[in-house]
Amino acid sequence: MESRAAIWIDFAPPGDLELASSDLFEMGAMGLEELDGGVLRAWLPLDWNRGQIPSDWKVVGDGEVEAKDWDLSWRLQQEPLRVTDRLVVVPPWVDKPADAEICLRMEAKQAFGTGGHESTRLASRLLEGLPLSGKSVFDIGAGTGILGFYCRILGAGRIELCDIDPDSIPCLEENAQLNGIEGDWSAWAGSLDRIPSGTKFDVLLANMLRTEFFPMREQALALMPAGGLLVLSGYLAKERELVLDWFAKDGLELVSEATEGDWWACAGRRIV
Ligand SMILES: C[S@@+](CC[C@H](N)C(=O)[O-])C[C@H]1O[C@@H](n2cnc3c(N)ncnc32)[C@H](O)[C@@H]1O
Repeated sequence: MESRAAIWIDFAPPGDLELASSDLFEMGAMGLEELDGGVLRAWLPLDWNRGQIPSDWKVVGDGEVEAKDWDLSWRLQQEPLRVTDRLVVVPPWVDKPADAEICLRMEAKQAFGTGGHESTRLASRLLEGLPLSGKSVFDIGAGTGILGFYCRILGAGRIELCDIDPDSIPCLEENAQLNGIEGDWSAWAGSLDRIPSGTKFDVLLANMLRTEFFPMREQALALMPAGGLLVLSGYLAKERELVLDWFAKDGLELVSEATEGDWWACAGRRIV
């Protein structure tokens, strides 16, 4: 796997750390870790423009690492991570807990998605309430594949996973193997524009920032049959109305929603 260098910067932002986290992802952070004392460590591309740092944020440390260290906190993880009441995510080097109802083994390496982030947890919770049995699922921005693979474990049929970050693909393949995902599934580098026209999926998943997903709304709708479901996560609670306005305008109805801290996720159904 290609190994690129990255930088880390420790920030002490004023105010709410959730909001600062969201801002940092919008500014291009590839990963975040909350440290003691209200400090956020951000992993950023080597050429990241420091001019983006808001003037009232204090920088309290920085350094450079190999890309393989972006997910250092996961590699140091020695305990199963509870994602929902039903789902536990376990690193490959940790024993499966005896009381876990559903266990996914996840290697993260350079991909996002071990279940530690609110947006992944919220999406996982919503998936548990949806009728997935035998459904085709398209996980857009799959990262480690946690959501797409969870759908399969919950009964989905065909699963397709994509990510614009090519580094995710070996990770998706490894995680599929770790979790015995077989049969009708595929993972590839790219995004919606690679799907042949006329293709439909029963369920679309997109856990990514609004600024990343909204430009693809029309393309996403084209992949949904009437009755098709769309699970959106990665939104701040204050963005809820923007999503519901779009639903109303384009013929989707809200099926379920969930919040954790400042984060919000929802499932919608295409009406016609
Ligand atoms: C927040 S992570 C979600 C990872 C995983 N699905 C989860 O729920 O934990 C968002 C992912 O979307 C990918 N991504 C961002 N924009 C995308 C796009 N336009 N098409 C496909 N993937 C995209 C990123 O590379 C990243 O892996």
